[in-house]
Amino acid sequence: MSQRRKLAAGNWKMNGLQAQLDEVAALAGAHTDPGCDILICPPATLLSRMADRAAGSFVAVGGQDCHPALSGAHTGDISARMLADAGASHVIVGHSERRTDHGEQDAVVRGKAEAAIAAGLVAVVCIGETLEQREAGETLRVIGTQLAGSVPDGIDAASLVVAYEPVWAIGTGKVPTLGQIAEVHNFMRAGLVARFDRAADGVRLLYGGSVKPSNATEIFAVSNVDGALVGGASLKADDFGGIIAALERA
Ligand code: PGA
Repeated sequence: MSQRRKLAAGNWKMNGLQAQLDEVAALAGAHTDPGCDILICPPATLLSRMADRAAGSFVAVGGQDCHPALSGAHTGDISARMLADAGASHVIVGHSERRTDHGEQDAVVRGKAEAAIAAGLVAVVCIGETLEQREAGETLRVIGTQLAGSVPDGIDAASLVVAYEPVWAIGTGKVPTLGQIAEVHNFMRAGLVARFDRAADGVRLLYGGSVKPSNATEIFAVSNVDGALVGGASLKADDFGGIIAALERA
């Protein structure tokens, strides 16, 4: 197994006005030499200013979505190249809220990931089962299908992160058992290795869904968990800092 540098990624979703940029300054100031990578994905309106505030720090900035096309007549959408131009180094694609709110299927997510990588961004591809699917015993089938359908061919480890986000754990305070997380993360690693061989060793696998400072340490001890994608708890530098600290100790 190659050494994978851990990643603490924050997804601000549709939250954040200019005043919240101070949270990033606080985070950058508190982590001058972090033992893991730190990423914040603010709303697009703040991306460029956040990138300016984070410049020279260890905090990277990412988008929350991109369009599969390079440019064109797509009102309201943002291309991966635009995100890179605004200072992003990463972009989240296929978040379950996009899949639900905007009907995004695996093929679209894959197109977005391809566009992201072509623009020089790291694609953070999200997958995860619903509660109904878990209760029906379909979790690994769903994860396998989404992984195969959403992750592009020919990846290299540096340009891909995969986040396992059970839909029922997002924003609910409910977290899978450590055994359930391990089962899915080991399954994802095996699936990536079967498809990409050694390149898959370096792909970071994040867990996401109600991660907080109080549960981060035990989640980060699970095999094949290389960090977290954090929603609510990423909005405050103190909370996110607690998760980063747990990851640094892991
Ligand atoms: P949450 O969101 O941490 O608020 O549960 C996670 C996510 O949607 O990425």
